Amino acid sequence: MNLLSNLLFLFFLCIYSAESADPIYYFCNEDSKTYGGSQTSRNIDVLLNKLVSGTVQNGFIATSYGVGKYQIYGLAQCRGDVSKDDCSVCIQDAAENIRDHCANRADARIWYDYCFLRYSPVKFFGHVDTSGLYLYNVENVTDPDVFNKKLGDLVDQISSEAVKPGSKGLGKGKTDISSFVRLYALVQCNRDLSELNCAQCIAIAIEKFSSICGNKKGCRVLYSSCYVRYEVYPFFFPLGSHESLVDSLVSYKSIMALKP
Ligand SMILES: *[C@@H]1O[C@H](CO)[C@@H](O)[C@H](O)[C@H]1NC(C)=O
Repeated sequence: MNLLSNLLFLFFLCIYSAESADPIYYFCNEDSKTYGGSQTSRNIDVLLNKLVSGTVQNGFIATSYGVGKYQIYGLAQCRGDVSKDDCSVCIQDAAENIRDHCANRADARIWYDYCFLRYSPVKFFGHVDTSGLYLYNVENVTDPDVFNKKLGDLVDQISSEAVKPGSKGLGKGKTDISSFVRLYALVQCNRDLSELNCAQCIAIAIEKFSSICGNKKGCRVLYSSCYVRYEVYPFFFPLGSHESLVDSLVSYKSIMALKP
């Protein structure tokens, strides 16, 4: 009996560790169910391989596969501060999970902290799309006036960094709130966006800081076109000399989803 339960335990452990990491959120467009049938499905498989290899190589890819009605457009990207190895793991998990979760849908999106992947029969490149989700830390900051001022200044600074030519849509930075509290913030646009559209996507996300994330210790806006996040702990790379990565969802208790 003991041996059997040990074996069962090992068996489940093996299944569990072979599984890829869960996304923060995914969206399958039910209207796109069985769109294009098996031809589309085969095209999506090829497209996913292209998306994975392109992202591993360059951190970003926007491409398509197939012809006519069966053509599917895809975009995949890693956050610009993430290492090649972490990016590779993330985008492979994303491709695997989206296929499992959104089987037979021609229109789907999947969000992780380190990467994003999307495909659709409609060419969506270059458009600002603010569908996605918000995640926030339920804990409140102790001194909202100081915190919000510092947050506003930091976000202004990293936003202008993100829209500079050559920045690849990434801006990040930190600032001290007090001798005990350091604030970290990062913005990342999808690289298919123009500088103007990147600025617009970030601006919409930041507007939500005051409504949805007002006075919260941390907040994440995960849109289909950009990612904006701030925390009172280190979460981006490279880490400073006395910093270590904090398990990212520990203090988060609420998710608010916006369906595209
Ligand atoms: C944070 O502040 C809000 C608004 O004042 C309040 O409703 C909420 O209970 C607070 N949350 C915590 C965890 O104290």
